[in-house]
Amino acid sequence: MAAALDLLARLGIAERNPGTCLGSEWLPADEYFPSVDPTTGQGIGWVGRCTRSQYGLVLRAAAQAFEAWRAVPAPARGEVVRLIVEDLRRHKSTLGSLIALETGKIKQEGDGEVQEMIDIGDFAVGQSRMLYGRTMQSERPHHRMYEQWHPLGIVGVITAFNFPAAVWAWNAFIAAVCGDTVVWKPSPKAPLTAVAIQHIVNGVARQTGHESVFSIVASDSPELAQWLVEDTRVPLVSFTGSSRIGRQVAQTLAARMGRCLLECSGNNAVIVDETANLDLAVPAVVFGAVGTAGQRCTTTRRLIVHESRAEEIEKRLVDAYRQVQIGDPLETGTLMGPLIDAEACVRFGETVAELERLGGKVLAGGKTLDRPGFFVQATLARAENHWSVVQRETFAPILYVIRFRSIEEAIALNNAVPQGLSSALFTDSLQRAEQFLAAGGSDCGIANINIGTSGAEVGGAFGGEKETGGGREAGSDAWKAYMRRQTNTLNWGRDLPLAQGIQFRIG
Ligand code: UN1
Repeated sequence: MAAALDLLARLGIAERNPGTCLGSEWLPADEYFPSVDPTTGQGIGWVGRCTRSQYGLVLRAAAQAFEAWRAVPAPARGEVVRLIVEDLRRHKSTLGSLIALETGKIKQEGDGEVQEMIDIGDFAVGQSRMLYGRTMQSERPHHRMYEQWHPLGIVGVITAFNFPAAVWAWNAFIAAVCGDTVVWKPSPKAPLTAVAIQHIVNGVARQTGHESVFSIVASDSPELAQWLVEDTRVPLVSFTGSSRIGRQVAQTLAARMGRCLLECSGNNAVIVDETANLDLAVPAVVFGAVGTAGQRCTTTRRLIVHESRAEEIEKRLVDAYRQVQIGDPLETGTLMGPLIDAEACVRFGETVAELERLGGKVLAGGKTLDRPGFFVQATLARAENHWSVVQRETFAPILYVIRFRSIEEAIALNNAVPQGLSSALFTDSLQRAEQFLAAGGSDCGIANINIGTSGAEVGGAFGGEKETGGGREAGSDAWKAYMRRQTNTLNWGRDLPLAQGIQFRIG
């Protein structure tokens, strides 16, 4: 506990922390909610609940800051992000440990999450010099036509507990170089990580004088997210969470014609065909299914395996699952920490019970652990793709094994779920690989060959189709979501020719 206290102190975390920050000023709280360590079930600290009037103050400051920030040259905005990234590099291990403490993901993955923030920060710094628009050929003489990308305004960022830092960074760093200001509502299940990040951001804000580019509003009440989603001063809301809530967010934004960027549930499959190299497939599946205790949106939830390889891969996975060390995420050697809370354990138990009722066979795990904290076993089970349990995303380490005969059948099974985030095929056949990646192949936003479904790099656009919500974040040209496009036509001639050859003579 002393080690934990020292860790918190180094990140500026006290026992009670305000949860609302305006500029680099924290607003005092009247009420607090707890952050709970899922490894012990004990509280780590308290975070202030943002009130309606405090929310109003933050929004007003973010709107004002936008007026100035959008006029700062984009590369100078990139410099602010670069300074934050420098600090993140310095704090990588401490912040990684706090993420592990608060979410239960292992230290390696906590550090990896901070690295992901650093990576997207570096990317954003480069992007700040590359907010390119196109030039088009005008059909009219002496006309120039081109497009520009302008800052959008305040971006609301609602994040989930499982990536309490990196997903904010994907959105916030890109939005900031695009000239937007960002109001962050972190998950009430990982609020201390957000407070620690805001401390880092505040240091840079004070140093550069760019206040209120990044603000935070925390609460455990769902009302706060509602305020943000309904707020017409917020032209874009980026939401990460379940498809159920994502659908409500999308509907509210559609009603006010705001934009949303949704990153919702996944139900990701790995296909292993008869030519696959199991020395690649087995560790990829174990990391994908067991890593972060099955609580990534990219977690491997379905293993679609050719019938000729099923017995062999099941055996190797059962062996591997037996060796998965479950325990304190901050201890070296632990591969799987706890689930986030007691409710997640209940859902795990209900899902396994439902699976067994449906006729599923548990090959490994299946039980919650009788110890403090919210621990369950890494679970492997035979199932059928159309079963209710397989069709939905349960945020837990449960992997369903499904058999197939032909690659066409495997692709059809991959696609036969409501979600469409990530997918992977393990094969040594070039034809099958191309078939999987072709238009008639995987219908997911991410499709990989000979690597797993999780652990994407930041350079590509991240997101998925169908009930995953269609949003794209992080790399490639995802920055465009955070800007407004303007098409400009400029006449430098002495005549006024109309497009489409229309003659419109007066007199
Ligand atoms: C998430 O689970 O919400 O691809 C994000 C991955 C990580 C990001 C996951 N880079 O698994």
